[in-house]
Amino acid sequence: MKSFGPFNQKFPFMLHGGDYNPDQWRHVPGTVEEDFGLFPLAGINSVSIGIFAWTALEPEEGRFEFGWLDEVMDRCAKQGMAAVLATPSGAKPNWMAKKYPEIRRMSPPCQGGGWGGNLEPLREVQQTRHNHCFTSPVYRAKCAEMNARLARRYAKHPALALWHVSNEYGGTCHCPLCYAAFQKWLQAKYKTLDALNQAWWSGFWAHTFTAWDQIMTIDPSVEGMRLDWKRFTTDQTVDFFLAESAPLRQHTPDVPVCINTMGFYEGLDYWRFAPHLDVVSFDSYPDYHDRPDPEGLAASSAMWHDLNRSLKCGKPFLLMESAPGTVNWKPINRLLRPGVHRLKSIQAVAHGADSVQYFQIRKGRGGSEKFHAAVIDHVGAKQTPQTRMFQEVAQVGKDLQALAPVVGAATPAKVAVIYDWDARWALDASAGPSKNAKDYFTHCTQHHRPFWKRGVGVDIINGDCRLDDYAVVIAPSLYLLRKGFAERVEQFVTRGGVFVATWLTGIADDSGLVFQGGVPGPLRKLLGIWAEEIDYLYDDETNAANFAQGNPAGLSGQFSLKNICDVIHAETAQVVATYGRDFYAGKPCVTVNTVGNGEAWYIAADGGRDLLDAFYGQLIARQKLPRALDAEQPDGVAAQTRANANGVFTFVCNYANEPRAALLGAAPRVDLLSGKTVAGTVTLPPYGVMVLKQSN
Ligand code: GLA
Ligand code: ZN
Repeated sequence: MKSFGPFNQKFPFMLHGGDYNPDQWRHVPGTVEEDFGLFPLAGINSVSIGIFAWTALEPEEGRFEFGWLDEVMDRCAKQGMAAVLATPSGAKPNWMAKKYPEIRRMSPPCQGGGWGGNLEPLREVQQTRHNHCFTSPVYRAKCAEMNARLARRYAKHPALALWHVSNEYGGTCHCPLCYAAFQKWLQAKYKTLDALNQAWWSGFWAHTFTAWDQIMTIDPSVEGMRLDWKRFTTDQTVDFFLAESAPLRQHTPDVPVCINTMGFYEGLDYWRFAPHLDVVSFDSYPDYHDRPDPEGLAASSAMWHDLNRSLKCGKPFLLMESAPGTVNWKPINRLLRPGVHRLKSIQAVAHGADSVQYFQIRKGRGGSEKFHAAVIDHVGAKQTPQTRMFQEVAQVGKDLQALAPVVGAATPAKVAVIYDWDARWALDASAGPSKNAKDYFTHCTQHHRPFWKRGVGVDIINGDCRLDDYAVVIAPSLYLLRKGFAERVEQFVTRGGVFVATWLTGIADDSGLVFQGGVPGPLRKLLGIWAEEIDYLYDDETNAANFAQGNPAGLSGQFSLKNICDVIHAETAQVVATYGRDFYAGKPCVTVNTVGNGEAWYIAADGGRDLLDAFYGQLIARQKLPRALDAEQPDGVAAQTRANANGVFTFVCNYANEPRAALLGAAPRVDLLSGKTVAGTVTLPPYGVMVLKQSN
């Protein structure tokens, strides 16, 4: 069993705190003192500071004011708190934006015009945040200077626990500097224009490039260009991150560095960041109460956590931001029902978080986030402890203290679901094949949920990750296959692994060019099938999968199919189920190919939740995959396991807004949250949680 330590040996506890903006309150004396007085009441042991504080730190070029930050850092040290110190590049000061226009982003071309639009990129005015040019030498130099000052000043400060670099990197810039960098990136990748033109299939509509500087726009009809632009944007953002974190590495080599990710955010491939981060931190804003299916929401939220844990091969991550109550930016901002804050916090820990941090600690009086939930309310310091939100936060504070033994614990996973940004981007960039084939993320969640529900740990990996430690690897709609992927999967299966691929897998190579020689491309031999045609169904149409008696999937009867039906030929694969209708009735729709000691499955049609739940339920039983709790739990109840030298911890959560019975098994275990010893069937209240400890 892998084991990990705390994110920083000097702070070996679960962090509880969040984004704190004392820079906005400098003109209100006494506020900081008041806040620090409230922190112990809510078990707050950490604050993230300086995230949008550039102007407070450098009100005019070359004049620096660190006094207010010194005070906050010192207060943290005095109270034994961990300071998560940010670099302020997420929002640039007005004086800088005015003096150095190049630091402001330029908009994408064709804005407003779409296909065939003809607007040149435009320079943004200074406004909002997260909109600097990540190529600009001026901005890079300014960040390097600011960050060096911060790092030198606080290098030996006892409160400095972690660097929070910038904030939620994202977006694109279409300025001449960025296009020049893109051209350079392409030259390094392709060496010759011939190679680029081939990879981009740019002879289509006469877009062949005859000089590098003709690449001045992201032309939607050159799909390979769009794909490479996405990759470049990630690489350039990583490059910006490396540049701005270099002074931190230099002056504070022992202080870990993170960025706050946005999980499955479409614009950045976080796998490219992962090797450069000491710890992954994640901002989580699940839509609790926005949807009718609380279990589905909980499952999808679990998958976001699983991704963040997987990015550093299972190392615990930090929940850097979450809302202690309602947010202000969803169309309808319903209040979190009592208990939900605790539930979603414990859920994050169950999936590998070693912290619960919030946006935000104190609500500002103005600005765009004045109605966003905070630990400290507008009502003021005196009455804040009586607010529901503060009390729920204080409850989580207590819980996290009780969960101290969990710090650093691993979250074992024998199953991996592939979610690959390259595949997503290639599919998004592709004109077709059909609208109903495009929701890659949702399709991946459908393959994660049956495992989550049964307490089977799942990692989220990409097409480059190591497969050796998994028993089951699933590739839902893996449209693009990276080089060497098929060979690695073949080895995995030969050694005894179970591989499951679905419709739309193996269509394109890593340039986004369609494979010659039949779908699923280089996986054709392993899967033992050829997908000759793909049928896309209207919303009101269905087909059916009929499972033959005694089939190896262990299923029987008929399952409804929708959206997509591949018309496939079983070459070496065994037919497990066949289509019930249409001209391809009787042809295979689920197959398995036995290769070496393993199995390669192909699910040719979208069976939705019912088929996948039944299919994976059987697979889990056949493969004897370890489960957090042996018994099937009622809908809405799910369990996860973390383990370290202190013991095995079973997190049991009820996501339903009504009491549900959890089936815990005969062995008595202590619930760390209530202190009670429990066993057998226990009724969890609405949104109730337990963390059962079993000593090693
Ligand atoms: C993001 C940002 C924060 C804040 C919150 C509001 O995650 O990082 O600065 O705007 O959203 O929910
Ligand atoms: Zn730019």
